[in-house]
Amino acid sequence: MNPELISIHEVTKSVSEAMNTRHSIREYDPKPIPEEILNRIFETSLRSPSWKNSQPWKVHIVSGAKKELLAEKLTKTAKESAPTPETSWPESYPSDAKKRMFDLGMKIYGVAGIDRKDKEARDQFMLRNFSFFGAPTAVFITSKFDLNFFVGIDLGCFLQSVLLLAREEGLGTCPQAALGAFPEVVRETLGLPKEEKVIMGLSIGYPKADSDLNRFHTPREESSDLIRFY
Ligand SMILES: Cc1cc2nc3c(=O)[nH]c(=O)nc-3n(C[C@H](O)[C@H](O)[C@H](O)COP(=O)(O)O)c2cc1C
Repeated sequence: MNPELISIHEVTKSVSEAMNTRHSIREYDPKPIPEEILNRIFETSLRSPSWKNSQPWKVHIVSGAKKELLAEKLTKTAKESAPTPETSWPESYPSDAKKRMFDLGMKIYGVAGIDRKDKEARDQFMLRNFSFFGAPTAVFITSKFDLNFFVGIDLGCFLQSVLLLAREEGLGTCPQAALGAFPEVVRETLGLPKEEKVIMGLSIGYPKADSDLNRFHTPREESSDLIRFY
């Protein structure tokens, strides 16, 4: 199926359709998401699998004035200081991954009309992470577990559930490691206890119509290179 044929503004009817048509949305309509839809998505996402059913996640869904306050504080902090994530962000990659990451940057900046050499414009674009790309709702995933590889996998399963369930409802999302860059700001604003680590977050909302950024699809490697049957 050609994902381009199904509009990101339509609801989907199957997991495959949601999977094939989901992509990260970086421009949103400010229209609020009805509470019953958010409830449905996040209640169902709790069915995600985890190591020995340990369920290492908590999820904080922030809309309205609190979201605006967080956007203001996170943006200010990001302008003034370097990230202090509680998880170690990856530092090195195989060369083929580096190429994909470079291509992603080139393509996104191209669609956003940013010259890659223009650091100021790139920094401004990066800052949009912290106002949730204009989404009406921001989501933070936290965990009080000691972080290890399998907790990471569990949280990844949870994250993917949210992305697909949101897509099913005709909502767009952008998963964002950037939202774990300043955990103290999130903890203080939401009144979270110290032991709850802010791992990452996502923006969620209705995709802005007529947005070139939202039409942008990332490619995938050939399945014949990645999937082997025996
Ligand atoms: C763990 C994780 C962290 C990510 N962090 C960010 C981020 O901080 N900012 C952002 O704009 N996109 C972020 N993304 C989105 C990826 O860039 C995107 O998923 C990838 O390029 C594939 O594109 P697609 O989601 O459109 O299919 C993140 C995705 C994942 C899974």
